[in-house]
Amino acid sequence: MKARLPPLLLLPLFLPGLATAAPSGRDIVLHGNANGALPCAACHGANGAGKPATGAPALAGLPAGQISAALANMAQGHGGTALMQSIAAALSPAEAAAVAAYFAALPKP
Ligand code: HEC
Repeated sequence: MKARLPPLLLLPLFLPGLATAAPSGRDIVLHGNANGALPCAACHGANGAGKPATGAPALAGLPAGQISAALANMAQGHGGTALMQSIAAALSPAEAAAVAAYFAALPKP
């Protein structure tokens, strides 16, 4: 007789699929993405307040449209550092929108 797996144990199998369907801005900010984007928090701070030591400006509380426009520009090789350009290029449009919304919702430093 086989033991039945409790259905909850199967849940993690489906979570990656869910993440692809609706990217979490917070996850990307804290952990980067599977496409090689580094975690934004490493340079911009987990609270989005920026880190002078890394030269990364504050993003918290900026309009989401401004953040996604900057990301779209950098993804095309305009503005920012070479590293920031490669990070922006590693985000899908949906992921860029998700991180922009996440930072925009944080309180201004
Ligand atoms: C390795 C450090 C580093 C990481 C990781 C990083 N950034 Fe940056 N980012 C920078 C630096 C440095 C700048 C300033 C570049 C400049 O202005 O020349 C910058 C600039 C930006 C800007 C432009 C701000 C403006 O006002 O023009 C945005 C938007 C941005 N980063 C978003 C992100 C997002 C979103 C992530 C994560 C997916 C991220 N960054 C990850 C270092 C980093």
